Amino acid sequence: MTKPVQRLPRADYSVFMTQDEVRSEKIYGWDKNSLLKPLTGDVLEIGPGYGTNLLHYSRDIRWLGLEPNISQHGYIHQKLNQLPFRDALIVAGNAEELIFDDNSFDAVVSTLVLCSVQDVCRSIKEAYRVLKKGGRFVFLEHQPKATHKRPHWLSPFHCFQAYLKKPAERLTTFDLPQTLLDFNFQKVNYSSLKACSPSTQHIKGVAIK
Ligand SMILES: C[S@@+](CC[C@H](N)C(=O)[O-])C[C@H]1O[C@@H](n2cnc3c(N)ncnc32)[C@H](O)[C@@H]1O
Repeated sequence: MTKPVQRLPRADYSVFMTQDEVRSEKIYGWDKNSLLKPLTGDVLEIGPGYGTNLLHYSRDIRWLGLEPNISQHGYIHQKLNQLPFRDALIVAGNAEELIFDDNSFDAVVSTLVLCSVQDVCRSIKEAYRVLKKGGRFVFLEHQPKATHKRPHWLSPFHCFQAYLKKPAERLTTFDLPQTLLDFNFQKVNYSSLKACSPSTQHIKGVAIK
């Protein structure tokens, strides 16, 4: 399908975004919008960074952001002050150890975050735990292209191996859709974004608990 011209008017960029965000939006904006706009209810976003994704949600959701880098919180507050969300809050914390009850969110969102976390396995397990039954893990991440994938990795040994790698390599060791299924998600729908490098591909999708 041909992508329509970026949905957000230019004026929005200058009001809400840093130059990094503008660049990122040009690459991922359309795909993020297609993933995030349909979400409803209680949404947890892990690693929201500057809060760029806030522009893409329906204002009716209850949004909770979990961002370990508190120097980013100011940018998020700035956006939240201007966007009339029903309910929105940013807190500090890590995806590997979510400070929330089991079965409490309709969606957990992770865009370009699993490559940064210390422990991908724990982050996915935690996302699964806090999702309600039928809830959605919504992702836009990068992973090796099929030709670069390891045949099958998911065992405690492979988790440990991945843990020993440099942060930037951790997710790229993983076949994310398969990993989500291995961690008990019922169904994973995903598609590829256009290639960004010869060995990695960006994928976006939704896994259902
Ligand atoms: C590349 S930025 C992506 C920001 C945003 N999600 C986006 O799509 O533009 C990665 C973000 O993940 C956050 N992060 C790193 N480690 C994390 C962890 N263990 N748990 C949650 N977020 C983490 C970083 O602070 C940063 O804001």
